[in-house]
Amino acid sequence: MKIFEDMQKVFEEKFGVAENLQKYFSPGRVNLIGEHTDYNGGNVFPCAISLGTYALVAPHSDTKTRVYSMNMSDKGVIEFPMNGLKYKNEYDWANYVAGTVATLEQAGHKATHGFDIVINGTLPAGAGLSSSASLEVLTAVILNENFNFNLDMVEMVKLSQKAENEFVGMNCGIMDQFAVGMGKKDCAILLDCNTLKYRYSPVKLNDCSIVITNTNKPHSLVTSAYNERRSQCEHALKEVQAVKPDLKAWGELTNEEFEKLQDNISDPIERLRARHAVRENQRTLEAVAALENNDIEKFGKLMHDSHVSLCEDYDVTGIELDTLAELAWSVDGCIGSRMTGAGFGGSTVSIVKNSAIENFKKVLSEGYTKKIGYSPSFYVADISDGTHKI
Ligand code: GLA
Repeated sequence: MKIFEDMQKVFEEKFGVAENLQKYFSPGRVNLIGEHTDYNGGNVFPCAISLGTYALVAPHSDTKTRVYSMNMSDKGVIEFPMNGLKYKNEYDWANYVAGTVATLEQAGHKATHGFDIVINGTLPAGAGLSSSASLEVLTAVILNENFNFNLDMVEMVKLSQKAENEFVGMNCGIMDQFAVGMGKKDCAILLDCNTLKYRYSPVKLNDCSIVITNTNKPHSLVTSAYNERRSQCEHALKEVQAVKPDLKAWGELTNEEFEKLQDNISDPIERLRARHAVRENQRTLEAVAALENNDIEKFGKLMHDSHVSLCEDYDVTGIELDTLAELAWSVDGCIGSRMTGAGFGGSTVSIVKNSAIENFKKVLSEGYTKKIGYSPSFYVADISDGTHKI
């Protein structure tokens, strides 16, 4: 593969010649529907995409790891020990790698030597396509492969999420790491985040494609706003649990059950957050059923409703994502469009008739640039397998 040839040159420049370099690929993800439901014990419906993170890896005998990212060349080679690791600002992007090493070690999977690693990512930074989960699961797979930890993918997914929660401090749910690790070509994953039961659902879109549109919004403070949404949902749940002690998560309720219980939530904002969590979960189940019945129009309508709920009840969209979604809804041949991922910037996901893609790009580019002042970018997504050695 051409990408690895380029990486090999960089590898030799940074680390000298190495024999038997190992090659890996870890995808990004796009969530088709089921947003902010994962940490609320609901369902999500993401897929892994062919944009992702490539790694060239050489094991060596000392206990330090040196990583270099071709996307972050200004940061140079970053070096860290393989044992007793703590978060450090100077590790910068490599905290995702270091955090996964540390989390595996805490779980009893100790690395006994380090690596030289060159990373090359095709995921646009800050696009909300899970470049961090991609790096975390990648690191877990590299360690598992080299030290024969015998971890299965779901265990690696859980440890990667733990790294992000505890080492990096983003209180994310399990969706991103799960989609990245467990992805399957041409399938989306229906995952119940309460039980981790999942199944693959083939994404057959007939004459349509999945188009990702990146707002290109400069990086915003996603982590604090995200963690705040999560605590609002948790606080509202506690209030409802006072009258319904067997309720474990919002994902367990139907819309009707929620209507009856909602007055127990004292804060009106928290009531809206919880309402989104319940409705979005139900919507996700309906959407998967629609897709499996080949009813793409209905799937598209539910994508629209999802975006509206994320805007009005969950308040995680913002002018950039709303502008893209509204423009998309106006395009003939766009079946559905919504924000994807955490929100506050990042990307939208749309289902667009192949014959309408050119016009879709034109309408969104022009309308968005006029309103926001800079242009969006487009990627037609290919659904890929999860993290693997090549
Ligand atoms: C981020 C998190 C996920 C999920 C989404 C919102 O991507 O990492 O766990 O909560 O936001 O659906």
